[in-house]
Parts: sequence; C-alpha cells; structure tokens
Amino acid sequence: MQNNSGNLPKIALGAWAWGNDGTFGGKLTAEELRPVFDAAMEEGLNLWDTAYVYGMGASETVLGEFLSTVPREKYFISDKFTPQCADPSAENAVTEMYKISAGLLGTDYMDFYWIHNPVGAPEWVRKLIPLAKSGKIGKIGLSNHSLAELKEAAAILEKEGLRISAVQNHYSLLNRSSETSGILDYCKENGIIFFSYMVLEQGALTGKYDAQHPFPEGSDRGNTYNPMLPQLEKLNAGIKEIADSHGATVAQTAIAWAMAKGTLPIIGVTKPYQVQDAAAAARIELTEGEMEKMEKMADEAQLNVIRYWEKEMK
Ligand SMILES: NC(=O)c1ccc[n+]([C@@H]2O[C@H](COP(=O)([O-])OP(=O)(O)OC[C@H]3O[C@@H](n4cnc5c(N)ncnc54)[C@H](OP(=O)(O)O)[C@@H]3O)[C@@H](O)[C@H]2O)c1
Repeated sequence: MQNNSGNLPKIALGAWAWGNDGTFGGKLTAEELRPVFDAAMEEGLNLWDTAYVYGMGASETVLGEFLSTVPREKYFISDKFTPQCADPSAENAVTEMYKISAGLLGTDYMDFYWIHNPVGAPEWVRKLIPLAKSGKIGKIGLSNHSLAELKEAAAILEKEGLRISAVQNHYSLLNRSSETSGILDYCKENGIIFFSYMVLEQGALTGKYDAQHPFPEGSDRGNTYNPMLPQLEKLNAGIKEIADSHGATVAQTAIAWAMAKGTLPIIGVTKPYQVQDAAAAARIELTEGEMEKMEKMADEAQLNVIRYWEKEMK
C-alpha cells in the first residue's frame, strides 16, 4: 500500500543515528526516539529516510515500530539497497535486501528505493528493474553516483520504460561538488528530485559543537570534525549573524540555504527540538546576498568534508 495523503514535505528526516552504529557516538533508545517521531508527525514531516546498513536493521526496526502505530497512507518511506551488504549467494540481492527492509518496516511498498552507492555499478540498477516493474517502488533513486554514473543508469532504465526520479548526495555549504559538477542542473532539467544529505555536517554546522563542546570522542563524526572545530567556530559565528537577522538558529539557516538551492534536505534528528528547527527552517527566506555571503565564508574555511564512502563529484 502506498502513501496517498498528498504532497511530499519539503524536508525529509534521516534515521541513520537511530541505528547506533558508532558513527554518531552514544546510544539512542526507542524511549528517547519516540518523542522525536511524534514531534515529526505533528509537524507534518512524514518522509523518513533510512537504510538496512544503518545498524544492520536497527534503524529500520525502531522506525518500523513507530510507523506501525500510524496508518500507512500517512507517511513516506525512503530506504536503500547498500551494495556492500548484498548477499553474494542471492539470485537477486536487491530483491532480497528489499524484502528484509520491508519486513522490518512493516510495509510492502517503498515510496523511494535507492541504490546507496555506485560500488559495482551499474549492475544493481539492472537488478532493481524487476522490483520497480512489480510496483513495489514509488520512485527509483540513486545515491552517491557521479553525473556520468547517473547518465549510464538512466540509459539502462529508459530501455525498460523506467527512470531515475531522485538523486541523493552529500550537499552542504562545505561540500557543493554536486552543484559544481552539474548534477543539480541535470536533476532540474530532468525533473529529478535532489535530496541533500548532511546539510548540517552531522551537527558541525549548527553551533552545537565547538572546542569546549566537542563531538563524542571515538565516534566517526568526532574523528572527522573535532580537528576542524577552530574553522567551524569561525564559520558558525558568521552564519549566526545572518541567522540572528532572521530570528533563526544556525542550523535553521543552513537548512534554509539548502532549500533555497532547490534541494530537499534530509535532516538527521535525534531530539524533538531538532524536528521543530527543521520545520521552522522551511519558513526562512534568505536573500541572494546572504546566500553568497554564507558560501564565501564556507569557502574561506577551506575544509574538506568528503567522507570515507564518498568521492568528490565531477
Ligand atoms: N545516502 C547516503 O550515503 C547518506 C549518507 C549520510 C546521510 N544520509 C541520510 O541523511 C540523513 C542526514 O544525515 P546525518 O544524520 O548524517 O547528518 P546531518 O543531518 O547533517 O546532521 C544530523 C545531526 O545534526 C544535529 N542536529 C540536527 N538538527 C539540529 C539542530 N536543529 N540543532 C543542533 N543540532 C542539530 C544532531 O546531532 P546530535 O545527535 O549530536 O544532537 C543530528 O544527529 C541521515 O540520517 C541519512 O538518512 C544518507
């Protein structure tokens, strides 16, 4: 059964941290996450992004538990096939992973289903075709693919009467390579929704973390961003000036920037106030001058935030 409650929200919420896989540090319980989920549904933020790889089913399990209390037509699911988790003995590893994820989420329909990254591309796109034709996927998405890889996949799908409907890449003030590489333009020209992930650089572009309040020691994001805190503090102070003039927070302003670029941000949320911030961000209108200033400050920080699973988009 699919969501038929109307339009997609302008912001998706991400449940990677819900998988407790060591990336974020600390452990989140279902008890802590339930109010986050409830706040989101109250705000009309009902598009949930997850993946089996987020804690090997842990994120999907807790999300599925919450979703089971809501009618299926009231939410959208965005889930992914991760090549690195493919069962080598399966005849069609994409179909097999889909079945596992759908079972954990308690659904028989994914509004978005993604090839998580291009490892082994374009084979997985071919393997996705039977699922797409069976009507179990609303929109086909490709994540972390370069422009050339997207075009290759689009040509394969087109022969089957199918198309790429969504692209999901790292896109933030500090990583605009999907823009400079022409991927954003390609999406606009082809009616493809561009989902921007890590718009907040996992908390680094919020002002929440600084030298006095570093990211959790030993977590992947701590290892990545703690060495950058001096530059991040300066950048966040600059964003804060713009945020203040809108009566907004740094996080809201970074999200508003991504929306003004025509993208659909996926915001990772672990606390109810973060859901409320995301909803408020949709109401901020930045001027062109403010956008340019933020980008200039981000460039001046000279930070490379490309992560271990990514590449610079060319
Ligand atoms: N396709 C892919 O390869 C891929 C890769 C990465 C992410 N994603 C998707 O994109 C989603 C978002 O990425 P992400 O969660 O890694 O990073 P993110 O959205 O950039 O950052 C999320 C973190 O920022 C902090 N935060 C959120 N809202 C805040 C606010 N209003 N004020 C202060 N801090 C705030 C929280 O940190 P605390 O928890 O410390 O409070 C939260 O865990 C993921 O959950 C996942 O669904 C996809």
